[in-house]
Amino acid sequence: MLMTTKPMFDLAYKGGFGVGAFNVNNMEITQAIIEACADKKSPVILQISKGARKYANIKFLTKIIEACVEEYPDVPIAIHCDHGDTIELIKECIADGYTSVMLDGSHHEFDENVRLTAEAVKLAHEAGVVVEAELGQLGGIEEDVVGLSAEEYEKNLEKFLTDPEQAKEFVERTGLDSLAVAIGTSHGAYKFAKEPTLAFDRIEKIMETCPDVPLVMHGSSSVPQEYVQLVNKYGGAMPNAMGVPEDQIANAVRTYGVCKVNIDTDLRLAMTAKIREVFSTKPEEFDPRKYLGPAREEIVTMVKRKLDVLNSAGKAGEVVKHWEKLGTPLPVYYTS
Ligand code: G3H
Ligand code: 13P
Ligand code: ZN
Repeated sequence: MLMTTKPMFDLAYKGGFGVGAFNVNNMEITQAIIEACADKKSPVILQISKGARKYANIKFLTKIIEACVEEYPDVPIAIHCDHGDTIELIKECIADGYTSVMLDGSHHEFDENVRLTAEAVKLAHEAGVVVEAELGQLGGIEEDVVGLSAEEYEKNLEKFLTDPEQAKEFVERTGLDSLAVAIGTSHGAYKFAKEPTLAFDRIEKIMETCPDVPLVMHGSSSVPQEYVQLVNKYGGAMPNAMGVPEDQIANAVRTYGVCKVNIDTDLRLAMTAKIREVFSTKPEEFDPRKYLGPAREEIVTMVKRKLDVLNSAGKAGEVVKHWEKLGTPLPVYYTS
């Protein structure tokens, strides 16, 4: 069932679970995510980056997601714009039927971030769409996402973490619906040079200055080493890949107000490991279904693993009930 993230976060904040926000780029990835969520009875946020819009052509992606909504009516689904960086893009996403958008102005000066975010909130709320915004800076480098190298980031960590007092002002001046925070996580497969500890004390302080604001953790892939080893075994080269330990993600969602957990790299890793394995062990294979099929299965396994870490298994029914009780109309895209 299509909805905004509001009913998901209401329950996640109080209920000690996190909603998985998984990046979608093509049919197989999307099918795998939704199959895993249906199996685990978990709510899900399907998020689309600017790069994904460009790669797949958004018309194709939205049709694939429409099929998910039709095929899996019991799964609460939100369609989210990941790292929207301009008002123009936010407008396009609203026009494309997204139920949630992120305005990422975190690389701007504070006042400019406030200005852009407030403008996005005004536009989105008029259309019945909810808004995530970011304060603080993450490390790591992805296509279309500006970031810092692990070394640079770790050396200057304190400077990049979200400031709790500034967060309070940010929330008040923008009217955002959820806040993406920098608490030591980082985008991509090379997050840390050594075993990290997330800044849990920082989350606590942000929860004090911004009570009841759902928090979002970007850069939350755990980069499971068994997958890194598979990639490397079958001809890949991912030396020193490292992610956020899963026990720390579990702690963030169970103990703190972290309601949305962004995962992309781990899906890429599962897919790549499997395709590499097929290519190496069956060099004669040239039917794409014979490597994309197993890759899709491996993503199902990976997403199920994530949903257990996030403690969101079995929450779908409650979320649907809460959405119906709220009685909030879907964005105007669907109602006008
Ligand atoms: O945080 C970024 C996501 O992993 C999306 O990455 O811009 O390469 O699609 P992308
Ligand atoms: P990862 O690179 O850790 O998967 O983070 C994804 C993300 O934050 C998408 O916005
Ligand atoms: Zn991100």
